Amino acid sequence: MSKIKKPETGADRARPIDRQKAHEIQAFGHVTRLPIALSENVASQSVENLNQVLADTITLRDLYKKHHWQVAGHTFYQLHLLFDKHYEEQNELVDTIAERIQSLGGISLAMAADVAETTIIPRPPRGREEVPVQISRLLEAHEFILKEARTMAKQASEDGDDGTNDVLVSDIIRTNELQVWFVAEHVVDVPLVRSDNAPKSESAKAAKA
Ligand SMILES: [Fe+2]
Repeated sequence: MSKIKKPETGADRARPIDRQKAHEIQAFGHVTRLPIALSENVASQSVENLNQVLADTITLRDLYKKHHWQVAGHTFYQLHLLFDKHYEEQNELVDTIAERIQSLGGISLAMAADVAETTIIPRPPRGREEVPVQISRLLEAHEFILKEARTMAKQASEDGDDGTNDVLVSDIIRTNELQVWFVAEHVVDVPLVRSDNAPKSESAKAAKA
């Protein structure tokens, strides 16, 4: 005797189908071919390079947020704002790089644990550091990114991957160079109130006499 299938009640049909599981549709590291007139080898090389610069950009972005929260001293307010501005700009870069990877048929790194395993930027301590140390860390991280981005840009250009070359040069290199300037000027040791050649104050002269 065949079972008669009951029609689904309203309640059954409204139930979300959660806890679903299945195999991945694309493995990390596998590049799927898209009709963008680039060979699979070229796309794969660009994806690999971009994932490295993505991991480093996510790390630098987060370093800016850490320093935005933890900055101390009498330049607190301006650095608190500047660090957050650079965080937002790096965040834009993260999205640009990740979407470039996807548009090449690759898979972008995304999660913190995977980023931590991939980045070449040294891990900072959890604790709070002085402003000159914070700035040194940021400048070092920028330089790692600039160095690798220039090498990768050359490779992309030689391979004919102009889109990747453009992202690396116009977005990554230009943004990082500009941010280096804004940050580096904070550790130039120039006088704040009295120039080196200013006459000594009367009280200083009196103290010397
Ligand atoms: Fe904030």
